[in-house]
Formats: sequence, C-alpha cells, structure tokens
Amino acid sequence: PEKAILSTRPELFDFHGVSMTHYFTDNWENVQNFQARPDDILIATYPKAGTTWVSQILDLLYFGQTCPERHNNIPIYERVPFLEIAIPSLDLGKDLADKLPTTPRLIKTHFPVQFVPKSFWEQNCRIVYVARNAKDNMVSFFHFDRMIAIQPEAGEWNNYFHRFLEGQMVFGSWYDHVNGWWKKKQNYSNIHYMFYEDMIEDTEREIDKLCSFLGLSRSAEERKMISGGVQFDKMKKNEMANYSTLPVMDFKISPFMRKGKVGDWKNHFTVAQNEVFDEDYKKKMKDPTLQFRTEI
Ligand code: A3P
Repeated sequence: PEKAILSTRPELFDFHGVSMTHYFTDNWENVQNFQARPDDILIATYPKAGTTWVSQILDLLYFGQTCPERHNNIPIYERVPFLEIAIPSLDLGKDLADKLPTTPRLIKTHFPVQFVPKSFWEQNCRIVYVARNAKDNMVSFFHFDRMIAIQPEAGEWNNYFHRFLEGQMVFGSWYDHVNGWWKKKQNYSNIHYMFYEDMIEDTEREIDKLCSFLGLSRSAEERKMISGGVQFDKMKKNEMANYSTLPVMDFKISPFMRKGKVGDWKNHFTVAQNEVFDEDYKKKMKDPTLQFRTEI
C-alpha cells in the first residue's frame, strides 16, 4: 500500500495563490503553529537552488568539530528537517524539527516568504536564503521531477518550460519566490540572501560570508576543510548527503547530485525557447537590485 501511495503522482492545485501539492500542505495547521526558538536557523530556497549544499555547509560549520559522527551516520534530511513535508510512511518534517536535539536547530523550507510560520519572524530567527538563476533552476527541477515519485510528472521538456514560466510548479513561481524573499530583506534584517552561482565561483568566500552573518568564528583551516569537503564530487559520493538512502527517488532516471554546474541550461534550451524566456523574464524581473548570473 505504501508503494501505491508513492507511485501516484500528486496533482498541482492552487493553495492561497501558490501552486502546491498535498504533500506540502497536508500538515499546514501544525506547520503554521511551529514554535521557533530564537537560535533556530531557517534555510529557505526555491526547490533545486542549492538547499542540500548549504544545509551540509551549515551542519558542518556548527557540528563538524563537536559531533563528527553526526554527518557520517545521519542523512541530511534528518539533520536538517524539511519543515512542511508530509509524506505517508515517512516522518513528518515538523515532528523531526520539533525533536531535533541540536542547538541551533537547522530547518529547511521551500515555502514562499508569505507561508513561513510566524514564530520565525517573532523570534527574529536567522534565515539563509539561497537563490539560483532561473534557467539552471528550471533544468534542475525538470530532472528532479522526472526521477522523484512524489512530484507531478515532468512530462515533455517544452511543456515543462512553459509551465515554469507560468509558475505551475510545486512551491509556485520561481519569479515570485526569489522576489518575495528579496523584498523581505528590506524590513527583516536577519536574512542572508545568497546565490548558487557565487557558491560555485568561490565556495570558501561564501562560507566566510556565512560565518560573518551567523557570528561564527571558525579558523581559516576549518573553513578551508569544509569548503573542500562540500565540493560536488565529494558530496555526490557522500551517502549521508546525496539522498541515495531515500526510497522515493529513482537515480536510474537521474541522480540527485546531477551536474552541479552553472550554465547547463544551454544543453536544454532551444534558441527559440531562450528568446521567449528572456522576453518574459524582463517583464517579471523589474527590480534592478536583484541580479542573477546564468554563466560564470
Ligand atoms: P543540478 O540538478 O543542476 O545538478 P537542492 O538541494 O536545492 O535540491 O538543489 C539540487 C541541485 O544542487 C542539483 O543541481 C545538485 O546537483 C546541486 N548540488 C548539490 N550539492 C552540490 C555541490 N556540493 N556543489 C554543486 N552543486 C550541488
């Protein structure tokens, strides 16, 4: 019976103006009532923007020295619970978050900013937001939807491309997500907004910035070690970080750690799609202070 549930691809529906599937809304009331603590750290992203990467970095920054067995034995989705996830036969993300024994607790969400439980704001929690350029984000999401049973069917690429532009994705429109979180920075200073492309360009520099934001003093040696340990090839091989232990993914279709590159969109977008995309992008991305790089 468990298999049957997970082999039924969920439908997208409109949820308070955002397209969602029931796997991320079924526990809505409990999630909205989540009691954040002041030292909790929320890792917020649009899906496929580098969530796992920054989660692994934060976990190592906080617990790599004091609790090394942690990252050798506990998969990333338990070290950094996914707050809103509610999949039959798996633990509720909210319960895992409640039970986290660590201080601080690292908690992941893909919610657009307006869905975040209010206690995170009330407690003035630190939030790390990672954004990735829309073209690569779309490609990564496409391959993810192909291989994971709990997402709507990816279908054919051209159709997926148009769905992405229309915001018909789980967790809604990429455009609304990155802009919503960017605007939030204006009245909530405890957000560190970072970019996947910057992490690819210079992981160590981005780790340094994270340390400043989090008020962590870690030796240059330790920061270098963490940066080395989280490079793509290392994380791809790391069973506690690469999701190979989660039953709902089919790596024969596409692995979770797929390419880890900036610019893979060039292998997917046709010239015509690229023109349509760029035209549409200009209309949706009016804020000149929010800039993405589609190549580095
Ligand atoms: P690709 O599909 O482009 O390879 P998320 O964790 O938010 O689901 O994001 C997954 C994306 O981040 C995937 O992108 C994955 O390969 C990439 N990723 C994960 N760990 C990475 C790392 N250490 N370095 C670079 N990219 C990484």
